[in-house]
Amino acid sequence: MKLDLSNKNILITGAATGMGRASAIETAKHGANVAIVDINSEGLDEVSKELTKLNANYKTYLIDVTSIDETEKKIGEIEKWFDGGINCLVHFAGALEGSVVDIDELSPETWHRIININLNGTYNVTRSVAKFMKKRKSGVILLTSSGAGVLGPGSSAPYSSSKGGTHGLTLHLQEYLSENGVRIHDILPGSIKSPLKEGQLSEALKNTGDVKVFDKNTKELGDPDGVAKIVAFIVSDNADYLRGSIVTR
Ligand SMILES: NC(=O)c1ccc[n+]([C@@H]2O[C@H](COP(=O)([O-])OP(=O)(O)OC[C@H]3O[C@@H](n4cnc5c(N)ncnc54)[C@H](O)[C@@H]3O)[C@@H](O)[C@H]2O)c1
Repeated sequence: MKLDLSNKNILITGAATGMGRASAIETAKHGANVAIVDINSEGLDEVSKELTKLNANYKTYLIDVTSIDETEKKIGEIEKWFDGGINCLVHFAGALEGSVVDIDELSPETWHRIININLNGTYNVTRSVAKFMKKRKSGVILLTSSGAGVLGPGSSAPYSSSKGGTHGLTLHLQEYLSENGVRIHDILPGSIKSPLKEGQLSEALKNTGDVKVFDKNTKELGDPDGVAKIVAFIVSDNADYLRGSIVTR
């Protein structure tokens, strides 16, 4: 199937590395206009080089999604930069800490930091984008939850809780947004190679000393490009009849 994303103005968060980076490049290959968002400016510079090579129409934005004011203001700027406004949100920004740490030993700082980035950040981004999509009665929103906290326990209490919360938010918004012409999904990626996942495996190794599990899990990591191909389909018009959560390898 040939995808044509030339009518898509896609805001991608967490675009400096991993699946966000791969999705920015993949959707741009299909002609999408992309606004790439992250707190990692070096990573954004590297993705920019790739997008320039593709002759893509793109712009980078440094946004910390934990700041509701900054997020709302800069998403307002992105809305204006795109000709016709934002018609797709792909929200990958996230973090994982506290892997294989018992709840009674987990610091409140770690708990609050991860909930703040993953769950409050998702709220901050979604509310800012939904406002514009509702007015136009069209759009696609793709949030990122995880098997952790949705299909099973996961390795970190705050991470699983934040992802269970993101899944719940997606379910909550489905009916309301579809009444306003907006399609919303959450994606549940499997174990995919990225700084976040490699950090999780290293933290788990430090806390358990289990080299065998570390080696096995490292070997089995999937490629972010595989997920990016699915993202490109989800935001396309070919996926208009798609509903609900999407589980990937
Ligand atoms: N890799 C996996 O196996 C896996 C599995 C399930 C879910 N996920 C989720 O997928 C998403 C993408 O993760 P990834 O694995 O590609 O990791 P990644 O580390 O490559 O990407 C996460 C990105 O989010 C950015 N980010 C972190 N805090 C931010 C903030 N406050 N504001 C803006 N940007 C911020 C980081 O700089 C990074 O570029 C995350 O939400 C993650 O929880 C990953």
